Amino acid sequence: MTDKELRELFDKLSLREKIYQLVQLSGDFYNDEVISVGPKSELGITQDVVDNSGSVLNVIGAEKIRKIQSEHLKKSKIPLLFMADVIYGYKTVFPIPLGLSSTWNPELIHKAYQVISEESTASGLHVTFSPVADLVKDPRWGRVMETMGEDSYLNSEFIKAMVTGLQGNLSSNSNIASCVKHFAAYGAPEGGREYNTVDMTERKLRQEYLPGYKAGVDSGCEMIMTSFNTVDGIPSTGNKWLMNEILRKEWGFNGVTIADYAAIQELIAHGIAENDLEAAKLGIEAGVDIDMKTPCYSNNLEELVKSNKISEDLINESCMRILKLKNKLGLFEDPYREATVERENSVLLSDKNRELSKKVAAESLVLLKNENNILPLSKNKEKIAVIGPYADNKAILGLWAFLANQNDVITIKEAFENKIDSKLISYAQGCEVLSDYSLLGEFGRASIVKNEVIDKKMMLEEAIKISEDSDVVVLTLGEHSMQSGEGGSRTELTIPDLQLELLERIKELNKKIILIIFSGRPLILTDIVSKIDAIIYAWFPGTEGGNAIADIVFGDENPSGKLTMSFPYSVGQIPVYYNHFNTGRPLESSTRNTRFKSRYLDAPNEPLFPFGFGLSYASFEYSDLVLNKNILSPNKQIEVSIKVKNISNVKGKETVQLYIKDCFGSVVRPNKELKKFIKVELNPGEIREINFNINEEDLKFFRKDMKFDLEEGMFTVYVGKNSKDCLSKDFNLKI
Ligand code: GLC
Repeated sequence: MTDKELRELFDKLSLREKIYQLVQLSGDFYNDEVISVGPKSELGITQDVVDNSGSVLNVIGAEKIRKIQSEHLKKSKIPLLFMADVIYGYKTVFPIPLGLSSTWNPELIHKAYQVISEESTASGLHVTFSPVADLVKDPRWGRVMETMGEDSYLNSEFIKAMVTGLQGNLSSNSNIASCVKHFAAYGAPEGGREYNTVDMTERKLRQEYLPGYKAGVDSGCEMIMTSFNTVDGIPSTGNKWLMNEILRKEWGFNGVTIADYAAIQELIAHGIAENDLEAAKLGIEAGVDIDMKTPCYSNNLEELVKSNKISEDLINESCMRILKLKNKLGLFEDPYREATVERENSVLLSDKNRELSKKVAAESLVLLKNENNILPLSKNKEKIAVIGPYADNKAILGLWAFLANQNDVITIKEAFENKIDSKLISYAQGCEVLSDYSLLGEFGRASIVKNEVIDKKMMLEEAIKISEDSDVVVLTLGEHSMQSGEGGSRTELTIPDLQLELLERIKELNKKIILIIFSGRPLILTDIVSKIDAIIYAWFPGTEGGNAIADIVFGDENPSGKLTMSFPYSVGQIPVYYNHFNTGRPLESSTRNTRFKSRYLDAPNEPLFPFGFGLSYASFEYSDLVLNKNILSPNKQIEVSIKVKNISNVKGKETVQLYIKDCFGSVVRPNKELKKFIKVELNPGEIREINFNINEEDLKFFRKDMKFDLEEGMFTVYVGKNSKDCLSKDFNLKI
């Protein structure tokens, strides 16, 4: 439709029709069997609203969507927008985003998100509520699994890759509109407790927490979702400064904004609205275009306009933004965007997509320990016991892959049996993931209630016997996939006790143990690292997770993943992150006696594993860090080079990381900030000169005067294999 035609259509709409475009309802309002979480009958939504609403939440599938859309178009001339949470995979599921970021390979993840778009659009989806751009420094928060971890620059690089992977240029019906979320700073709740208060200085918000969302906006994301939390005392969904001043005026975002689930009505619980009417007013004045799953807009905006409490212009602007998105997606020409069952059958879970998922999963795995190079295992020589609650467990997709089918997952046991002589493999579960599933409670589609009586002692003894009869034990442990994700905040982050008992018993056998950990977050591994020969952190690795792990364990793939979150030594250190300030009494200072320094009495300051850490079967040596000059002037750049040598006899990938420290500033500056990284593959014995360029853009920050700009002075460049092991050189910025 041309802009002129769209305007003509808009001009014919009644005020109510315009308001109803701002309403999003779940599938159960369209006779879909999806279980809706949250209020339904009390919503007080009339059939007139349903018949004229603008979009549908979490319905997907070509047949289902075509049916709802065709029914809808009998009553309305404006097609529905179908939106859903396809966060890191639809039917072919990739690793959780904390694993995706551990690849340090945005180009690869761009390809993954092209597949996600291809599969979702084949099933009729128009918008996906992805990617999550929340920065997180607190692994107690369950949704850390949906994020790219603790670094703002790395987060931004992956958000760009995901948004452009999903959207392309939206010209093809295989491109989907992305919705960057949750704006803003949802990942910084006090205590790591879900939905809790977020309170930080504007400087910290702008310096660290906003760049990821801005990367999404600058990449052309079509939608932004608000966050449940407060920002400076005002919930995002009613926060005009955040949603208007920053998002629209400063950043120039002119796409659609959507409230998170019931977040407009939750302004009442927050205590800044007394009723739905006030909540609707706050939301529309903040510029929130779509009310997800509450009656606030549908039942109150007309009254607000007619009583002159708000201008009808606000509704016109929101409605037009929604119509423009529908038009950009071509819905007026083809409300189904060529979604058909045939297209689904040819695209979903294709071998090509599975192969990419396996490749991504292999690059997401992080090798944390490999004592005496026990890994990779040789094939068909040793008897291998595959033990533990994740050995033959298909629940390795993570909480936000609820649209996928776990039956499509390849387990570790299956993958091992496909790769080596199955006569050499024995298996025992050994124990359950949890001793008490009730703490997981209900979540939407599934409640995890184990009814069958389990003979825990027999289960354990069987595992011990099998391990005794084997040469190597591959032990698979971790948190339950429902212990992370939304509503998954935890205060204790250790491996469950019943799993630790299994580990201890196997340890007594003096066998080689390879530990594979499944988790949606960094867990506290301090007490087990010394007991294990090798540790692979698998996150929740997705549909092809078992095959990826088998490729790594048997050396068909060389691990290259690196951590994008610090692994705490203890939960008491949290938040612990690499880009911290120095303080006035840093532990390293020699001017104070040991007590009066910034430290703990009962734990180190350093995490157990630092940001950027990850091992390979290859070994890499760094040398000859050289800057082509030591004075940087505006509009110039410094060329940084370093030599990296693969001193092993196997090919391997290495992510070379460049950090910068601003040694002095008008405000304190972090000890290190990641500014560049490059992932390279080196053959055995190969030396490669790696080059980076630094320019003034890399040195800007929110100064004391809150201007994002430069300050001259001394800087240090660090280049290395992680945030701790670096070579360094100084330079000066002269303005
Ligand atoms: C949830 C989540 C959000 C999701 C939305 C729709 O509560 O916070 O990430 O996109 O509701 O399911």
